[in-house]
Amino acid sequence: MPEPGVRPQFLCPAEALVEAGDAVCFDVLDADGRVQAFALRFGGRVVAYLNRCAHVPAPMDWRPGRFLDHEQRHIICSMHGALYEPADGLCVSGPCPGARLTPLDVREADGLVHWYPDPRHQPLPSAD
Ligand code: FES
Repeated sequence: MPEPGVRPQFLCPAEALVEAGDAVCFDVLDADGRVQAFALRFGGRVVAYLNRCAHVPAPMDWRPGRFLDHEQRHIICSMHGALYEPADGLCVSGPCPGARLTPLDVREADGLVHWYPDPRHQPLPSAD
């Protein structure tokens, strides 16, 4: 059940996120301004994080939307090779072990995936 005042943001149809496949990217506003985020499916579950490495705050995808390593086991940062657990964003190898990616609340229901903004991560203002 969404918290009062939280307007879920449609991300994609559920079938757009295949197991260990490419991510759906979207933009959010946080304290630093506009930042990219991504959602992907791993272990059957949809997870989402800011596209900002915990080592250096840089984008991680080695090609747009591709965040998993060749074994499709970890999220990998293309800059210096940090490996993160897809399930919880914990860094398990590389230059920042124990650090975590910033998670976002995404939920899948009725064949749709939505992002639920929180006080620190908001949607961009609409163009209209
Ligand atoms: S910036 Fe990601 S591992 Fe260094």
